[in-house]
Amino acid sequence: MALSQKSNGASSDGHLMIDLRDVHKYYKTAVDDFHALNNVDLQIHAGEFVSIIGKSGSGKSTLLNMITGIDRPSSGEVFVNGMAVHELNENKMARWRGRNLGIVFQFFQLLPMISVIENIMLPMDFCRMYSMREREKRALELLEIVELSDHAYKLPTALSGGQQQRVAIARALANDPPVVIADEPTGNLDSKTAESVFALFNDQVAKGKTIIIVTHDSGLAKRTHRTALIADGEIVNEYVARAMPTLTREQLLQATHDAVAKNYAAGSMIIAEGTDADAFYIVTKGTVEVVLPRPNQSDVIAVQLGPGKYFGEMEFFHEKKHRASIRASEHTPVEVLAIGYDRLSELLNQSEVTRDALHQFADLHEAENIRKRGGLS
Ligand SMILES: Nc1ncnc2c1ncn2[C@@H]1O[C@H](COP(=O)(O)OP(=O)(O)OP(=O)(O)O)[C@@H](O)[C@H]1O
Ligand SMILES: [Mg+2]
Repeated sequence: MALSQKSNGASSDGHLMIDLRDVHKYYKTAVDDFHALNNVDLQIHAGEFVSIIGKSGSGKSTLLNMITGIDRPSSGEVFVNGMAVHELNENKMARWRGRNLGIVFQFFQLLPMISVIENIMLPMDFCRMYSMREREKRALELLEIVELSDHAYKLPTALSGGQQQRVAIARALANDPPVVIADEPTGNLDSKTAESVFALFNDQVAKGKTIIIVTHDSGLAKRTHRTALIADGEIVNEYVARAMPTLTREQLLQATHDAVAKNYAAGSMIIAEGTDADAFYIVTKGTVEVVLPRPNQSDVIAVQLGPGKYFGEMEFFHEKKHRASIRASEHTPVEVLAIGYDRLSELLNQSEVTRDALHQFADLHEAENIRKRGGLS
């Protein structure tokens, strides 16, 4: 399911920088083919800071390897900055990668026999970027950014883990790539050092880079623009996760499977008041308006709901008839995910806390609507 909507913080004019379409990855094993990525659709815009989270073995590194071209999808397409990565041959791949992607690994992977500054100059040498003289100057500037100027001519092993990771980030930025990909960049660092590494990524996002990090740290993930949750090789729909945050990963995946996307033109009617209710809806694009009829008065817009917000929960818990109309706002088309009440019921049977949360919202929204319908008018 697509993850195409941007949330707060991302630059609004960002074009599509990373686009994975129906990506599958099978690993051959002695027994059978292991399905490591299943129907992955992931869209990331220029300037976005995206975190990828998921259990060990869920497919996070495999996903990054598809983007970097370190490995190839078994089927599907991968576009990065307009390049069809899945079609690049090995020869072209290395140079393309060197110019377009900065990669930061969990264990730094600096070359131990050459100095810090030589490690940073290496990608520039390899891609023949910048003149010889410029390369050293640029490497020193990058070391200044990561606050390691004093260590330029030391061997990496003379540095602490956090310092080595900062060198690795400077190296990733060597060719000024538009995209930086980092697999557990803070996994081996204490929390204070992890914080300084995270701050460096934040600075780079502010300068317009697109950054994707895999992390086990949900606290860090929350501070990125957007989080993609992966479970058993599949991406959980982020709006489903936002609407029902108390579901487990497996339940979220189930809900993602159960959800059906529906599209509506700007201004069009989605649900008419008085009709039978049969589904729970989560807004994924655009804005919907909940329109309340009032006796002897004009209709009133009770509330506007944007991505991650939902409707249809009131009717699930109360009477199964729509007591308000729902329409797409006049300005943008709308996409919603519909989860049928029978499916929702099964999900909520597995998660009492989600049921309680939705029920509370249903009561709250009902009370608000009654107030607005009667209103001050
Ligand atoms: N080369 C391979 N051959 C066979 N199976 C593989 C291969 N690489 C990965 N796998 C399997 O694919 C699944 C996903 O692996 P991946 O490394 O992407 O997980 P991950 O989410 O990055 O985990 P971790 O958090 O532990 O790094 C795992 O079950 C793993 O055992
Ligand atoms: Mg991994």
